[in-house]
Amino acid sequence: MIAPRSIETAEVDGKVVLVRSDLNVPLEDGRIADDTRLRSSLPTIQLLLDRGAAAVRVCSHLGRPKGHDERYAIAPVAALLHELLADERLSVLENTRFDVRETANDESFARELADGCDLYVNDAFGSAHRAHASTEGVAHLLPAYAGLLLLAELEHLGKLLGDVERPFVIVSGGAKVEDKIGVLENLGGRADAVLIGGKMAEDVRDANPFSFDVVLPTDVVAAAAFAADAETQVTGFNELPDGWLGLDAGPQTRADFAGRIAGAATVFWNGPMGVFEWPRFAEGTFAVARALAECDGFTVVGGGDSVRAVHEAGVADRISWISTGGGASLELLEGRELPGVAAIPTA
Ligand code: 3PG
Repeated sequence: MIAPRSIETAEVDGKVVLVRSDLNVPLEDGRIADDTRLRSSLPTIQLLLDRGAAAVRVCSHLGRPKGHDERYAIAPVAALLHELLADERLSVLENTRFDVRETANDESFARELADGCDLYVNDAFGSAHRAHASTEGVAHLLPAYAGLLLLAELEHLGKLLGDVERPFVIVSGGAKVEDKIGVLENLGGRADAVLIGGKMAEDVRDANPFSFDVVLPTDVVAAAAFAADAETQVTGFNELPDGWLGLDAGPQTRADFAGRIAGAATVFWNGPMGVFEWPRFAEGTFAVARALAECDGFTVVGGGDSVRAVHEAGVADRISWISTGGGASLELLEGRELPGVAAIPTA
């Protein structure tokens, strides 16, 4: 993969820099529920401040407002950023999606963002699959560079697209097989094993849409209803009583998947093994999280639910790379060009 040029190569001293970060953090009742993306964005901003930037203007979208909508005001995010990086040269622009020209990639909005700036840094990996004014348009108006997070994501995820160390094991789960077909078709043919869990395993059992064989669960934790407190029993994957639902991987499947992960040199995991939001159906997903943590190989986790699961399982610090990108990581691993990356000149 050809890398975009790094901000580390730019002359920053005395410059006014526009930084596009992905500060699209989950909000609950107006409060930040998880600040991972914000913290992951700090090193690039810190580097610009350390290298003598005259001003650093950070911009990001937050949520999916269709124009000005106070529920998505950037204020709580800006407050935390200022708390973590107290520097009078730092400012945070309002949610870019408060202006409808942002998602239209309107050049007049890109010009307003670029106005008064000398350099543009795109560090918003999570939004790099969007061709918006702040992620793509503005890169054509100012000298553009890639930020440290964007580069690290491309480097780590990019390893999965190259000659990976074998055995290469992919673990995929979640509800919808359609969401995973692109990635699995692009990576799965090169994998030594593709382990499928979650609801999508049932669809794949009924009609395998992939051009390669997959490993399916052998047993499941079945529930009499779709409810956190439903009656449960462990059954064979193909022996669910009528009307019952498989809501988690069973103990035999967990052991099988964990064993295959333990022996891998490279692992990519995307998508939970069951309804892990409910504690009684979380064990299969947590078993995968722990197996990745115990694996000595290169382990990568992408996608919101699996990222949350490695945090909840308490093993995030033992995973080689946890992507901050949801859709962006999937599109990259599908082999698609990301507009936000393509707009930056190469090194
Ligand atoms: C994400 O959360 O995946 C990114 O911030 C992109 O957000 P979007 O899907 O609303 O464009």
